[in-house]
Amino acid sequence: MGLNYLLQAPITIFVSLLIIFSSTICGSNLLIAKPHCQDTCGNFTIPFPFGIKKNCYLSQEFKVTCNKDNILLLGEIPVLDISLEGQLWINKVISSICFRRDGSIQANAGDQEFRMSTNSFSFNNFSNVFVVVGCDSYAYFTSFRFGKQQTFSTGCISFCRSKEEISNDGFCSGAGCCQAKIPSGISDLNTSLYNLNNYRYIEGIKNCIYAFIVGEKSFNFSIDRITKPWNSNRLPAVLDWAIVDNNCGTAQASKDYACKGNTFCQDKDYPKGYLCHCKQGYQGNPYLDGPGGCKDINECEGSNLCKKNSVCQNKIGNYTCKCSHGYKGDGFLEGCKRDEQIFYKLIAGSSVATLVIILATTWLYFIIKKRKSIQRKEMMRDKFFKENGGVLLKERFSKQEGDKRAKIYHENELERATDNFAQSRILGQGRYGKVFKGYLKAVKGMSDNEQQEIAVKKSKQMDRSGQMETFANEVFVLSQINHKNVVRLLGCCLDTESPLLVYEFIDNGTLSDHIHDSIKASFLSLQIRLRIATETAEVLSYLHSAASPPLIHRDIKSANILLDKNYTAKVADFGVSRLFPLDETQVSTVILGTFGYLDPEYMHTGKLTVKSDVYSFGVLLMEIMTGKKVVYFDLQGEERRLAKHFLSCLNENRMSEILDANLLHQKETYGLIIEAALVAKSYVSIRGDDRPSMREVATKLRGLSDEMKQMNFQAKPYGSSKMESILLEPSMGHAFDGISISIDGPGMSSMSRVLDN
Ligand SMILES: *[C@@H]1O[C@H](CO)[C@@H](O)[C@H](O)[C@H]1NC(C)=O
Ligand SMILES: *[C@@H]1O[C@H](CO)[C@@H](O)[C@H](O)[C@H]1NC(C)=O
Ligand SMILES: *[C@@H]1O[C@H](CO)[C@@H](O)[C@H](O)[C@H]1NC(C)=O
Ligand SMILES: *[C@@H]1O[C@H](CO)[C@@H](O)[C@H](O)[C@H]1NC(C)=O
Ligand SMILES: *[C@@H]1O[C@H](CO)[C@@H](O)[C@H](O)[C@H]1NC(C)=O
Ligand SMILES: *[C@@H]1O[C@H](CO)[C@@H](O)[C@H](O)[C@H]1NC(C)=O
Repeated sequence: MGLNYLLQAPITIFVSLLIIFSSTICGSNLLIAKPHCQDTCGNFTIPFPFGIKKNCYLSQEFKVTCNKDNILLLGEIPVLDISLEGQLWINKVISSICFRRDGSIQANAGDQEFRMSTNSFSFNNFSNVFVVVGCDSYAYFTSFRFGKQQTFSTGCISFCRSKEEISNDGFCSGAGCCQAKIPSGISDLNTSLYNLNNYRYIEGIKNCIYAFIVGEKSFNFSIDRITKPWNSNRLPAVLDWAIVDNNCGTAQASKDYACKGNTFCQDKDYPKGYLCHCKQGYQGNPYLDGPGGCKDINECEGSNLCKKNSVCQNKIGNYTCKCSHGYKGDGFLEGCKRDEQIFYKLIAGSSVATLVIILATTWLYFIIKKRKSIQRKEMMRDKFFKENGGVLLKERFSKQEGDKRAKIYHENELERATDNFAQSRILGQGRYGKVFKGYLKAVKGMSDNEQQEIAVKKSKQMDRSGQMETFANEVFVLSQINHKNVVRLLGCCLDTESPLLVYEFIDNGTLSDHIHDSIKASFLSLQIRLRIATETAEVLSYLHSAASPPLIHRDIKSANILLDKNYTAKVADFGVSRLFPLDETQVSTVILGTFGYLDPEYMHTGKLTVKSDVYSFGVLLMEIMTGKKVVYFDLQGEERRLAKHFLSCLNENRMSEILDANLLHQKETYGLIIEAALVAKSYVSIRGDDRPSMREVATKLRGLSDEMKQMNFQAKPYGSSKMESILLEPSMGHAFDGISISIDGPGMSSMSRVLDN
């Protein structure tokens, strides 16, 4: 019977009543039975293909019952658990025999219970062992294997001569207990139990033999198993089950195929047949359709399967770990890493957006700010315009006839014309303000690309306490003066704090510049000088007679006479000096050396008359003839006043000493010069009444000038050939050519005084 072989079998057995099953049916919410079928028996669940009632089990062999003690039974054996993985735990009767001292025997075969009529079940060879407990005992079982065609036997033997020999370390190691592995496909047991020593009694030991197939982990051996009566005659064992058929291939072809949706089929050797399983990613009862069947598992619920920076996405039967936006890599393994490209694109995108917002905001801010400042400026302009008498002036200007009409300019118009009053445009400046050159857009009578040259006089803060209407009057009167030898006032701008005056542009500077520059002076022949003097005298004569009461220039001096390209005189800067602060004007007039031109009578009496202009003109005439400054220093470094010196030279007949050397070349004209000198003497008489009127002066000078012209026809031409042509020109000046405006000429407005009267 191969007993030696049996003795070598491993002999350790643990008994365990704890049954731990890995089961996919753990979720008790799942429907595991067929609809309308009882799926529990006490604490036990009954999954299809098992069932209690007809139509609730797949076939007869899966029929189970639930007794009145809520114990699930397969045939007559209590069932502890059913797994859809193909296992079934039963609570199996132990075979035992006990020998008493009185010779009687108590035996419990327990094998009939497990005489299975079907081929659907067999003992699991992996989880079960065959165990024999007893002293000097052996047991074996005979069973069918792979159906009824084959039989198989195995067993083991256990020795123990004394109680002390029995190990109590929990292992079934051969003393008092032995165990043997079982092969697969075992069913239907006939167990045989034997004693080797004719039931010799050993002290303290119960003389019993136990033999059984048990779940290996469900049984722990201890000395109590030998010395004490057992409190249960059952131990758990594991059965395999399967749907009995040839294999998956033939089953799938038949209409009885047990596997339902989303499943796969697994062949089983024994019990011969197959099992069904849910496909990966599905869970449920693979033998059922509908709600209890295999359903997709939403892997994304519950524990986080995906790694860093990825998002779980459930798919049918599967799931993915998709990297979050801006990340790339493997969401299953290492986790996703930042995708630099997308990341920087995002950063760039957001920073561009931010930048755009900032720019837009700034832009808006400046637009609003600018609009506000424009509004404020607009308001200020309105205010200034009114204060400067703009309303009155506008009305008066509108009554003037078309061509000669003076204009009211707007500040921005002049700002544009003068390039925002740029430094480079300054023609001259004095302590009263600055004169800028400007270009105005084409005016009537000019082609489109031509620009009108203008001179814009911008004074410093003016005395705002003065009457603005008076200023308006003044500007109006000046605008009406229309004389070819007067610098024309084109208009004014009243919407600034201190008004701007716009003149025609005269381009060859002041008479003063020409007289006192040795080179320029060499071009000034006597004839030209006489003509300039005559033209100036005629302007003053015109002013004195044009209005009643007369207009007094009050600040005649060489710096206030401008010359154009043809040496035509243009008298500038009168009356308007009123624009400058009153006090300062008075003081500076004295200090600034116009002092030399000042009427001594007026200085004494403070009474201004037309004769004051005559005095100033007399000094100017002397200046023209001598080329000397009205107050100058002689060779000895002494200060001399021209008028006084001139008169003494005239009286002492030493005129050649003082006259401009440029005039002494022609002997023929000397008489004329002396004649002119003599009339000049009368102009600077101490008493105003002794001086001739401006009309008389003009007539006299015109006569001398004509005389000179006739003489020149006979006399040899003087100077260069270029000069020649100039000398021969008649002096009919054309008013609008060159320009430059003196601003050093302050002078108080005699005109306003006249108008005030
Ligand atoms: C068997 O013994 C082990 C270790 O001592 C123990 O963990 C286990 O629970 C025992 N099993 C039973 C059924 O008593
Ligand atoms: C059912 O389980 C409860 C606790 O889980 C237990 O107390 C009870 O004995 C069990 N009933 C059966 C019949 O096994
Ligand atoms: C159980 O039986 C199968 C099939 O005969 C075999 O492959 C397996 O190794 C056996 N397992 C054990 C633990 O003996
Ligand atoms: C077990 O014994 C019974 C009754 O004697 C017999 O019918 C059966 O065939 C035996 N089984 C085996 C596997 O020997
Ligand atoms: C006038 O000035 C221009 C340049 O400004 C110069 O070319 C021209 O010679 C000057 N003419 C006279 C007469 O001084
Ligand atoms: C200068 O005189 C010439 C000749 O009479 C004339 O054509 C020209 O327009 C004059 N220039 C000015 C600026 O008056």
